[in-house]
Amino acid sequence: MKTQKILVIGAGGQLGSELVQGLWKLYGKENVFATDIKDPQGILSQGNFEILDVLKQKHLFEFIQKNKITQVYHLAAVLSATGEKNPKFAWHLNMDGLVHVLDAAVEFKLDKVYWPSSIAAFGPTTPKHNTPQDTIMDPTTIYGITKLAGERWCDWYFRNKGVDVRSLRYPGLIGYKTKPGGGTTDYAVDIFFKALTEKKFECFLKPDTYLPMMYMDDAVKATLDLMEAPAAKVKTRSSYNISAMSFSPSEIAGEIKKHIPEFTISYNPDFRQAIADSWPKSIDDSRARQDWGWRHQFGLAEMTKEILKHLPALLAQEA
Ligand code: SER
Repeated sequence: MKTQKILVIGAGGQLGSELVQGLWKLYGKENVFATDIKDPQGILSQGNFEILDVLKQKHLFEFIQKNKITQVYHLAAVLSATGEKNPKFAWHLNMDGLVHVLDAAVEFKLDKVYWPSSIAAFGPTTPKHNTPQDTIMDPTTIYGITKLAGERWCDWYFRNKGVDVRSLRYPGLIGYKTKPGGGTTDYAVDIFFKALTEKKFECFLKPDTYLPMMYMDDAVKATLDLMEAPAAKVKTRSSYNISAMSFSPSEIAGEIKKHIPEFTISYNPDFRQAIADSWPKSIDDSRARQDWGWRHQFGLAEMTKEILKHLPALLAQEA
């Protein structure tokens, strides 16, 4: 089997920095090329790292050719809340970036491409509970519109150009090692930082706003499981529903209180409430479970325990 050379675009982000470490373990540090438009932070500087802007197609193609890349994980995107503030740029980055990568897959006969979709691809008239794999999709944010369009691009490149592209519709991803930027589910990350440093947190969503969520370790596992699955098992080429848990701000606050009794939460909803209200509350991911054996490991209690165990040491290092 030929040596796999993996390019990760947008590696400095919340998911990228943890996914790169998973890829190091699978393929060896020397075979993983982490890239971003900003200098590497923390652990990423321990491996190959280069500045790469996916919008610069010529540079992207040269990079792939020079490094004999065989797989691309394309993670660079503007998220939901930021996208509403700069919709044209969100469209430009999220769409043109993806098409550049899919064209590169054709040009250089890449083995596989990974691209994330999101629960944001659903909308207000999508069934809210146990949202099915195939259902109404009427996203209201530009971010969600790019995710739905991106899913259709992936499916088109698979059917018409034979690109082995794979994708997951992530719920809100919660990790503590790298913070998210500009998402609607970010509150569920910030709450842990504030609980430890200030013992209080002001939430930009209402107390009962249920959203599907996933701990970062599960997100990395889902991504690598999908990418390592035999091609014949990957029957959905737009994007797979994937889920682990759903909770509301008041529920996660209650879970944190079990560990930090003095913690308090207050609520001051802003424009992100309407975005959250347009998304599903829970996801039916039975197709992913059937096709390639997806199983999650972390629920709310396990995740909260894990983060509150490890985050204090990280905060102490930064102080
Ligand atoms: N977590 C993302 C966001 O909130 C959704 O994919 O924008």
